Amino acid sequence: MSVFTLAFPKINLSGIGAIEALTNRLETEHSNEPGLLICDPAMVELGFANKLLESSLNLTLFSDIRPNPDTNTVNQALDSFVTSQASYIIGLGGGSAIDTAKAIRILSANEGPISRFNGVDTVNKISVPLYAINTTAGTAAEVTSNAVITDTATQVKHVIISDKIIPDISVNDPSVMLGIPSDITAATGIDALTHAIEAYVSVGAHTLTDYASLESIRLIAQYLPAAVDNGEDIEARQMMAYGQFIAGLSFNSAGLGMVHAMAHPVGARKDLPHGVCNAILLPVVCEFNRPYRVEKFAKVAHVMGVDTSKMSEEEASLAAIEAIKALCKRVRIPKGFAELGVKESDILEWVSDAMNDPCAAGNPQPMTTQQVIQLYQQSL
Ligand SMILES: [Fe+2]
Repeated sequence: MSVFTLAFPKINLSGIGAIEALTNRLETEHSNEPGLLICDPAMVELGFANKLLESSLNLTLFSDIRPNPDTNTVNQALDSFVTSQASYIIGLGGGSAIDTAKAIRILSANEGPISRFNGVDTVNKISVPLYAINTTAGTAAEVTSNAVITDTATQVKHVIISDKIIPDISVNDPSVMLGIPSDITAATGIDALTHAIEAYVSVGAHTLTDYASLESIRLIAQYLPAAVDNGEDIEARQMMAYGQFIAGLSFNSAGLGMVHAMAHPVGARKDLPHGVCNAILLPVVCEFNRPYRVEKFAKVAHVMGVDTSKMSEEEASLAAIEAIKALCKRVRIPKGFAELGVKESDILEWVSDAMNDPCAAGNPQPMTTQQVIQLYQQSL
């Protein structure tokens, strides 16, 4: 029997007021020590960064974060880290800000460039604490051992997977999620659903993560439409925050699959949002995977609200695919990549990166090159 590793942050603060709770802790633990706050410009404009900057914490701000963070951004953030002599790092935002903060944590204790750490378990040491405040629901970057950084020179995404970069404290405060636009709510919500489903059917799935996966799928199916329709619905935001968090707990240990492996090169080369790429690929890849996980997809249908009581397992598993498609349509996910300017001739340059992506190993059935090409074609 193999040993299963369950990895997650030491502490999680969840609920309205969680950011203030973190600030209070840090004011005690770090007193006047310098720290680096990494976020995107929206966090400054919306005033969330100022809440931290106006506390008694001695923070330097780096707010030049863009979607799909790249090696140039990491190098600039590292300059801020070195100049400020920071002894801890706070990442405030979605995956882009928190992944950059994870990269700085690596480079604070190891010689760069960050591309050296592409792959699994490549980080040997770390030196400074990392605190991650999540503002989307979401990538679950505040929970996980993953960081994805696009190489500016090659446009390839480096996927770094190491339990050394799991934040020490993760924060989920739904009050900062109220203002997220509906299209971003939809894309990040389906990203979280993808985490839960890929972890549930992954070759690395375990009883300990299956509970979290199923509950996450149930919460997202129930509350994502409400969060998209009315961003001010605090109950929907709170439940989405919980749903994406436990999806992160699950996939952090169980792994992901070909949705993420195929989404990464599209996002890197076309500079498209991660959540949108996943959302377009999710139903297509699930159709491929369904025959290899019929029992599990039948359970997915049940927790998504399908009445499976009179269905065979096979029928219920097929109903899960329809439920996933219906949810994507309900929250207005683009039908395919063609709507986003992608051409069929773009596909061939993605295939090799997808096949070699670390997430590919988790898929319930390995894919051939030809199958990857066919699934990309179906996703146009
Ligand atoms: Fe993701």
